[in-house]
Amino acid sequence: MSKKKTCYVTTPIYYASGNVHIGNSYTTLACDAFVRFNRLRGRDTFYLTGMDEHGQKIENAAKSLGRAPQEHVNIIAEETKALWKELNIDFDDFIQTSEERHVLVVQKIFEKLLKSGDIYLGKYEGDYCVYDEAFFTKTQLNSDGTCPDCGRPTTKVQEECYFLNLKKYQQKLLDYIRENPDFIQPETRKNEVVSFVERGLEDLAISRTTFKWGVPVLSNPRHVVYVWIDALSNYISALGYLAEDDSKFKKYWLEGDEVVHVIGKDILRFHAVYWPIMLLALGVPIRFKLYVHGWVLMKEGKMSKSKGNVIYPRDVINRYGLDSLRYYLLREMPLGNDCIFSYDKFIEKYNVDLANDLGNLVSRTISMINKYFKGVVIRPKKTYFSEDEDLRKVAEASIAAYLEAFENFRLQNGIIAVWNLVNRSNKYIDETTPWLLFKDETKREALNSVMYHLFESIRLIALMIAPVIPDSAEIIFKELGLDREDFSALKFGITAESKVAEKVKPLFQRLDLEAEMKYHEAKNEEELQTKPEITIEDFNKLDLRIGEILAAEKVKAATKLLLLKVKIDEEIRTIVSGIAEYYRPEELVGKKVALIANLKPVKIKGHLSQGMLLCAEGEGKPLEILEVFKNDSKSRIL
Ligand code: MSP
Repeated sequence: MSKKKTCYVTTPIYYASGNVHIGNSYTTLACDAFVRFNRLRGRDTFYLTGMDEHGQKIENAAKSLGRAPQEHVNIIAEETKALWKELNIDFDDFIQTSEERHVLVVQKIFEKLLKSGDIYLGKYEGDYCVYDEAFFTKTQLNSDGTCPDCGRPTTKVQEECYFLNLKKYQQKLLDYIRENPDFIQPETRKNEVVSFVERGLEDLAISRTTFKWGVPVLSNPRHVVYVWIDALSNYISALGYLAEDDSKFKKYWLEGDEVVHVIGKDILRFHAVYWPIMLLALGVPIRFKLYVHGWVLMKEGKMSKSKGNVIYPRDVINRYGLDSLRYYLLREMPLGNDCIFSYDKFIEKYNVDLANDLGNLVSRTISMINKYFKGVVIRPKKTYFSEDEDLRKVAEASIAAYLEAFENFRLQNGIIAVWNLVNRSNKYIDETTPWLLFKDETKREALNSVMYHLFESIRLIALMIAPVIPDSAEIIFKELGLDREDFSALKFGITAESKVAEKVKPLFQRLDLEAEMKYHEAKNEEELQTKPEITIEDFNKLDLRIGEILAAEKVKAATKLLLLKVKIDEEIRTIVSGIAEYYRPEELVGKKVALIANLKPVKIKGHLSQGMLLCAEGEGKPLEILEVFKNDSKSRIL
């Protein structure tokens, strides 16, 4: 027997912040469908996912919850694994970057690159954002010197730091991209990478001395490895690269047939530039293809906790079942672009595609086979209608398009190809009018042929859609009286005879759009009004301070806003505040007011606002800022 082809599939490893929403579940669901597809086509498939657990943010999060970092990340890893099980994610390995099997490999990789001269010790002089744990060059900073990623003030640092020599590999990477046109997909993402690299790469600072929760550099443990170098290595550490047992690395990477990394567009540079350069420097072949998807957005843009519009997988699956979520996300997201999740769109797709088109096709057909032939369907000896031939042709075209699309990770196109067959099959029922054939005794064989054609179409639909909605496909197979099949059965007309189930339950119950929307509106309202209980640790996260207003002026073209200069301790900050209708600028100067000092800075009307004044507001009463009279900007709020 010839050796099975291999296929190694990875998701990004998720930050251990414990808030996996439907957006970042998308990659894991998409990879799961791709993996199931590959298993059905007989590939030896290995599916890796996991958690990215190091770094200052995670250390801080653990601290604020009164947990040790390791304890914290283990809790989050268990929660995430439990969620993946609920979403029917069939992964083979789950790696945590705090595990010894990973840490040891990262340390060896670092030392290996030090030895080869690809990593060198240098001095970093420039600007550092503590929040993002990232260094920035002057040109990367915002015009006011703040961090381009989070808008917080950066600090000037001069420190010893290890660098990865990117410049040395710039041309090699460009050559590789040119010689391997399907390395980065889709094309638009590849073009972004090429123009980024062509602009010239700077060597990358890859160690930090400002915190401890990371992988220590073996030969200089004052440094921990930059979290991205640590994280990217998971793709090979999980296979046993540089470990005692590296059989999986040999099988799935070095000698493997297909390696696929799937990522969201925001982490493209790390995967398309730094990761291949690391591999080039290590002398490990770049075996992977990179599929880059867009984002799941809400109608009003990104999901965010502050907007209160984050949707978690359990919100959807507890009400509508798992397969409808899997179907919606995979059907709606084209490779490379964004898609919108909204409940009205979700319910419409649910009703039309799943309940009507697929669900009705299955239940109508099975009840007709029961009614007309006591549940038995037999392969006919000849063709009776011209529509039979057409249905077969559509089935074959649908199979070909589906295989081609899924093979290339175009899951949306693959699903559309399957629905061509679903729709053609529904039309076939209307064309052949089985209820009329049943009335005519002489048309029994023709009626059996119609049932057989529908049976075969549904079998093929269930087989193709199994990677996307595995539970529903399983039910359809059972109802058809079949065991689950693999893709060797992806041909029209191979069933000789079958006995279908006597009764079928609707796969997807139709939903009442209006009632569902009312339910979600009420729920939203409730969530917006009831703020969740918080712990003292949550409260302690707020940096509440007294600020002395040194200057105030109106913000141009904004009737409600004032621009304030506020002294907090010895620091002077700008704050944009929506109090212009209640205070004249000159009456504010000198006031000592309560404010939140650690709110993420945002730009408002072109001004960076680095804090928020606390105010009292009541019905029919003017808005008032909270003032103190005996304390000053050095005082604390307890
Ligand atoms: N830890 C890094 C990845 C390291 S991989 C070596 C990371 N983690 S993450 O948790 O922030 O993001 C994980 C993935 O979720 C990324 O691919 C990101 O693009 C994706 N998504 C986050 N929000 C998303 C949506 N709203 N929609 C789709 N994907 C999104 O980055």
